[in-house]
Amino acid sequence: MDVFKILSISFIKMVYSTRRQVFLILACVAWIEFAIRFSPQIERFAHDVFLYRSSTPQNTVPVAYGHPEEHARLLQTLERSTAKWDSSHPRYRLLTALYGFTRYKSGSQSDINRWKDLYKKVPKRQRLLLESAVDYPRKLESVDSLLDLNVKLASSIAEYGLQFYNITQVELNDFIKEAEAQGRPIDKTSVTQGMKHFVRDWSEEGQQERLQTFQCVLKTLDREPRTVDAPLHVLLPGAGLGRLAHDIQKLGGFEVTMNEWSAYMNLAYRYVSSRPERNSVSFHPYIDWWSHHATNSDFQRAVAFPDQVADPLSVLHVEGDFTTAFNGRTGQYDIIVTLFFIDTARNLVSYLENIHRLLRPGGRWINLGPLMYGTGPFVQLSLDEIVALSTRIGFDFRDPEVVFGEVTIPGLKVQGSEIGYGRNPLGLNKNAFQAQYWEAIKH
Ligand SMILES: C[S@@+](CC[C@H](N)C(=O)[O-])C[C@H]1O[C@@H](n2cnc3c(N)ncnc32)[C@H](O)[C@@H]1O
Repeated sequence: MDVFKILSISFIKMVYSTRRQVFLILACVAWIEFAIRFSPQIERFAHDVFLYRSSTPQNTVPVAYGHPEEHARLLQTLERSTAKWDSSHPRYRLLTALYGFTRYKSGSQSDINRWKDLYKKVPKRQRLLLESAVDYPRKLESVDSLLDLNVKLASSIAEYGLQFYNITQVELNDFIKEAEAQGRPIDKTSVTQGMKHFVRDWSEEGQQERLQTFQCVLKTLDREPRTVDAPLHVLLPGAGLGRLAHDIQKLGGFEVTMNEWSAYMNLAYRYVSSRPERNSVSFHPYIDWWSHHATNSDFQRAVAFPDQVADPLSVLHVEGDFTTAFNGRTGQYDIIVTLFFIDTARNLVSYLENIHRLLRPGGRWINLGPLMYGTGPFVQLSLDEIVALSTRIGFDFRDPEVVFGEVTIPGLKVQGSEIGYGRNPLGLNKNAFQAQYWEAIKH
């Protein structure tokens, strides 16, 4: 008997034996499990599917690209080959921010778990008292479940970002795996700050603060002679989530460019400007900070956004560092608006020189904001020093078109007024800045 015959007979015998059928099925199942466990590709696939499923809710909004030249430039700067691969590479920064939004849950959950652990330190008698008077454990549990909505928002931002920047889930997962293996935590503060900005810029609740802050800039710009056929070119560096840029565009007769360096802000802006319906998204912006709340319902309230649909194609958004992203655009802007921006400079002199370079002769610089220097600025100037330096660089300060506040330093054309920034309007704290407003002409 040849081998083929032997095999055929055994196969027929096996197929007709019920016991062997069962054995065959069990063997198949065992093989599949073995393959999933030990094949790196299959394991990676299973991991990716799991991550995708666990972290990304449905997002049916199509990606709005627009501005094809700028989009091509953006994708090019994101190429790995354009710069050394380290934490300052634009793609690395973007992946880090995507990692933050994707893993927002674990970052926030650990805070809640800490608060739960701290509560256990309260002696039993006092816990009983707290439970009967205010049901504190329920508060801890309810924040835990409210967090789900924020987690869903963070996941949606990441999901939209992957589509917008053309990054695959596999690439992000690999990045996350490596970050976690190296013990690099997410930057939860940047994620929450990015999301909190939805309130100031894109919610009804933020309207009061926007009125206080944006009104004098909008009024001043609206007085500028212009036509729709010959629009004025306005640039807003450090534009955050871009509401002022969109409000200026809506005045008509302005071609508006906004710029932002932070990948967290950019992801949040790309997301909010893609929402097709008013107030279609909501989240609980205040649940991560338990101080300064009058009532639990204030503290746990949801805020919806966007209060207005933004057309992402109506404003050009240039991502990157203001001091380098506009290298080829000397003298191209009629107006530059710096809103809560100049104190973010690592090198303030470079900011001022760059503003001057980008304006056309006779162009106008409008500033509104505080002088709250961050970590590691090369120079930290007081207001009078900024006026002196800007004058030396080639600006003429002039009396503002509209009254913003009181003159800050007699003899200098700068006005100051108290302005909130990212305040909780129902909160018991009222942090504010004495923001400084000026208009200066490039000569
Ligand atoms: C205090 S926030 C103000 C944002 C916005 N103007 C507003 O009022 O909501 C300053 C912004 O400047 C951005 N920024 C900091 N340095 C920058 C740079 N070199 N180029 C562009 N943007 C920068 C920050 O990421 C941040 O979003």
